[in-house]
Amino acid sequence: MQVVFAVALGLLMASAALWTAEAADASPSMLGNACAPCHGADGRSPGAIPALSGKSAEFIVQRMVEFKSGARQGTVMNRIAKGYTDTEIVAVAQHFAALGQTMAAAAVTPSALADACAPCHGADGLSPGAIPALAGRSVAYITERMLEFKSGAREGTVMNRIAKGYDNDEIAAIARHLGSQ
Ligand code: HEC
Ligand code: HEC
Repeated sequence: MQVVFAVALGLLMASAALWTAEAADASPSMLGNACAPCHGADGRSPGAIPALSGKSAEFIVQRMVEFKSGARQGTVMNRIAKGYTDTEIVAVAQHFAALGQTMAAAAVTPSALADACAPCHGADGLSPGAIPALAGRSVAYITERMLEFKSGAREGTVMNRIAKGYDNDEIAAIARHLGSQ
């Protein structure tokens, strides 16, 4: 936590300077940029600092208001939240909540789901190596194997864990995307 804090403090000082310059008539996305050094691009924190993406506007507003009033103690957020008016807090919270929804919607497209298979099964399922290709397999074949891996009826080295991460609708969508008719 101390390391996080030291890094966070450095970033805070850097972004505070930026912030003063931009405070005048900041748009919601400019407001959100001030959070990115710590909470990650689009609020998708890669590290120990909590992500903002995927959280509701209500949640973000509530935390910010609590940090601002001191009702909630943070290492850096109390100071940061005090720098924002209530209107700005609502605007920045809506900004992150809206981004989260866009990403959630994008993530469920079949091609985005199937992208997660590419590192092992190759682009478009055309595996170049020892891992079985998915290209050329029927929709039914891919669906059945996935469901078997998911239930444990079929043993794999990695596929049981992977298949458990998908619900049956997602498996059907991936199979339709990758499979041949
Ligand atoms: C200097 C780094 C830094 C910046 C800049 C920053 N945060 Fe944070 N944020 C943190 C840390 C660290 C925490 C964990 C609480 C703490 O220690 O203050 C946190 C916690 C939060 C939480 C609570 C999340 C949860 O799941 O409990 C919210 C909401 C939040 N920040 C919103 C924002 C918003 C909105 C901005 C931009 C206006 C912002 N933060 C800018 C470091 C930062
Ligand atoms: C980390 C690498 C990895 C990822 C990611 C991965 N697979 Fe696999 N897949 C394998 C391996 C290895 C096998 C052989 C069985 C085993 O050992 O688990 C396999 C086997 C399969 C099989 C059975 C093929 C056959 O002919 O027996 C199907 C179907 C399959 N994977 C579908 C998928 C789908 C769909 C995704 C994406 C949602 C995916 N896999 C993601 C590594 C991976």
